[in-house]
Amino acid sequence: MSNLIAPHGAARLNPLYVEDADERGRLVQEAESLPSITVASAAASNAVMLGGGYFTPLAGFMDKADALSVGRSMRTAGGLFWPTPVLNLVREAGPVAAGARIALRDPNVDGAPVLAIQEVEAVESFSAAEFDTLTGQVYGTTDPAHPGVADFQAQGKVALSGPVRVLNFSYFETEFPDTFRTAVAIRQEIAERGWCRVVAFQTRNPMHRAHEELCRMAMERLEADGVVIHMLLGKLKPGDIPAPVRDATIRKMVELYFPPNSAMITGYGFDMLYAGPREAVLHAVFRQNMGASHFIVGRDHAGVGDYYEPFEAQGVFDDVPAGALQIELFKADHTAWSKKLNKVVMMREAPGHTKEDFVLLSGTAVREMLGRGIAPPPEFSRPEVAQILIDHYRGQE
Ligand code: ADX
Repeated sequence: MSNLIAPHGAARLNPLYVEDADERGRLVQEAESLPSITVASAAASNAVMLGGGYFTPLAGFMDKADALSVGRSMRTAGGLFWPTPVLNLVREAGPVAAGARIALRDPNVDGAPVLAIQEVEAVESFSAAEFDTLTGQVYGTTDPAHPGVADFQAQGKVALSGPVRVLNFSYFETEFPDTFRTAVAIRQEIAERGWCRVVAFQTRNPMHRAHEELCRMAMERLEADGVVIHMLLGKLKPGDIPAPVRDATIRKMVELYFPPNSAMITGYGFDMLYAGPREAVLHAVFRQNMGASHFIVGRDHAGVGDYYEPFEAQGVFDDVPAGALQIELFKADHTAWSKKLNKVVMMREAPGHTKEDFVLLSGTAVREMLGRGIAPPPEFSRPEVAQILIDHYRGQE
């Protein structure tokens, strides 16, 4: 374990899941007699990430001072480097006051079972102006048409801060038993495989040729021991491909086109923020925590619509102070199939090309083709991957 990259801001991971089964059983019982609230999906997914050690070294939900400080300067009030607020926001605190011990119920599981227990250290309201400023800092916009902004603004403006003990991993461990992993488990598997130089690949989409080759290029150029494909399993905006379908495409691609034992297929339980640059930095933090030495950031990373410049999520790392993160970036240019070179290339590395020399398809065009049962060209999508997606769209009719 010792030769792996250190976790963020700590010598050891700080998973807030209660590992000891007896203690967990006692807390589950106790929770039934505590005052409880059903939290927002975002807070539930924050709890799952805290539970799995991805948000090391945080000990729970941030207070207002930390959130505002993170928005302003990517540092908590105490000086810890952190790019996005990690909040438990509610519309009204009701009877919950500072000093309360409360059960957090899961909005994403039938019957809203208890997900975690929180010690409420403070109950603080954001003013509308403070909340707007924070939204703008994190998302780069306050436009309610932005799906991440809309979700953030819908959660409420009252922050319940304080440490949490996490009692389960929500629907992720039951619905994705082969794919969902904690940072603890991934770190352990990396160590067991004897990997040291490890590339992490974030994705919320099915993997097409460009993504596949991006992973391959990163592995080759970095002389990495392997790649950890790490897919988002939480909530997405309407129209994005559901996680089980993405998972199936990724498994098929790795099975057919990656050398044995070169890729780990994993996922994490977090709702997509669509916060572009700030989310890219958060992504880097939790990839460092899970033991990756390198992290791929390509075109429009964690973006949506036209809210961010195509490479803004790479540029934001220029604002990360030296030494704040140990994980290194693999900054990728736009990758696409070159008709001249008969392979996927980074566009900046393909001299003498015009746009017409690449196979470029918009997301909308690809969705339309698949919906009509037509596979995109093999230069864009592996046929076996396209077939899974066609079957998905057919099933929706
Ligand atoms: S994301 O929201 O998770 O970033 P997606 O799954 O599409 O979306 O992308 C995963 C990673 O691949 C991101 O780092 C993204 O920047 C990168 N990426 C996706 N498509 C391309 C492409 N054609 N060229 C370069 N990078 C890409």
